[in-house]
Amino acid sequence: MDFETLSADLRSLQDRALKEISAAADPEALEQLQIQYLGKKGELTGVLRGIGALPAEDRPRVGAVANVIGEAVKGALASRVSELHSVVQARRLAAEKVDVTMPGRPIARGTLHPIPETIEAIVSVFGQFGFVVYEGPEVENDLTNFQMLNIAPDHPARDLWDTLYVDIPGHLLRTHTSPGQIRVMETEKPPIRALLPGRCCRYEAVDASHGFEFFQVEGLMVDEGTSLADLKGLLDEFAHALFGPRKTRFRPGYYPFTEPSVAFDVECVVCGGIGCPACSKSGWMTILGAGMVHPVVLQYGGIDPEKYQGFAFGMGVERIANLRHSVPDLRYYLENDLRFLEQFR
Ligand code: DAH
Repeated sequence: MDFETLSADLRSLQDRALKEISAAADPEALEQLQIQYLGKKGELTGVLRGIGALPAEDRPRVGAVANVIGEAVKGALASRVSELHSVVQARRLAAEKVDVTMPGRPIARGTLHPIPETIEAIVSVFGQFGFVVYEGPEVENDLTNFQMLNIAPDHPARDLWDTLYVDIPGHLLRTHTSPGQIRVMETEKPPIRALLPGRCCRYEAVDASHGFEFFQVEGLMVDEGTSLADLKGLLDEFAHALFGPRKTRFRPGYYPFTEPSVAFDVECVVCGGIGCPACSKSGWMTILGAGMVHPVVLQYGGIDPEKYQGFAFGMGVERIANLRHSVPDLRYYLENDLRFLEQFR
């Protein structure tokens, strides 16, 4: 090995390196070239290993040539890196490209089902008058669903509630939320202002206004000096809050657990009282049953009827929801048809 051969090798190495560097298409290729030429086991290092075989006076000269070549290769790598910067940027821009003209993907927003939504609306009105929500069981016993509400086993009023019985003796699917009155009276002392929303079941032929499964909200107030006038005032507020300023009226009704019992009517929310098919041309719609809690029922609930009076009311949630949302048939509520439910967004 002599100086001439070695420096020729170095020059051809430089030519090759510079050519390859300027042809490198991406940063990864450049990195490979850096390793290939300048790395610890790289070609330049390889050539320099031959220095030892040269006469001592030639060694610094070769070293100087090698340094110049090393710097040239380093410089070429650096300038190619900055040239390729735009390649890298273009690549990133392509990968992260957002087409701002694409229509957005709509986020599916959930909504309350109209039945719980209506229960919330009812609860929020009575809540302003201090009524608090309680819950009773859906599987009730005969005693609480009927007997303690003044409906004896042989009472003809049982016909009002066609009952679904369960396999547990003395138990049934509650036919109304009224047994909740007993449960509240058993656990709370007057003054009581209770609301009891919940699912009820009856053995009914299903049609547009009857389901074997439906919801009610029960209300109960017990205090000293509670009167029918208090009930009327409260129900008026309720009707106005839900249906706007409309006339209301009490009609006599019958329930074994209230005395007197009333039906509470609101001026037809469809025709405003003129008379239309929705109100059977009467101009009125009955929205709930109510009355003064029968003294016997207070007694069953452990409350002294000599000292306290109470009123109670019970309403069908589907009926209220129908009127709020102009739904003609309560079967829609349980069919889980999204075309129906999505209208309540
Ligand atoms: N429980 C009755 C029904 O299901 C509704 C009702 C009427 C509830 C009068 C009451 C009431 O609390 O006082 O038809």
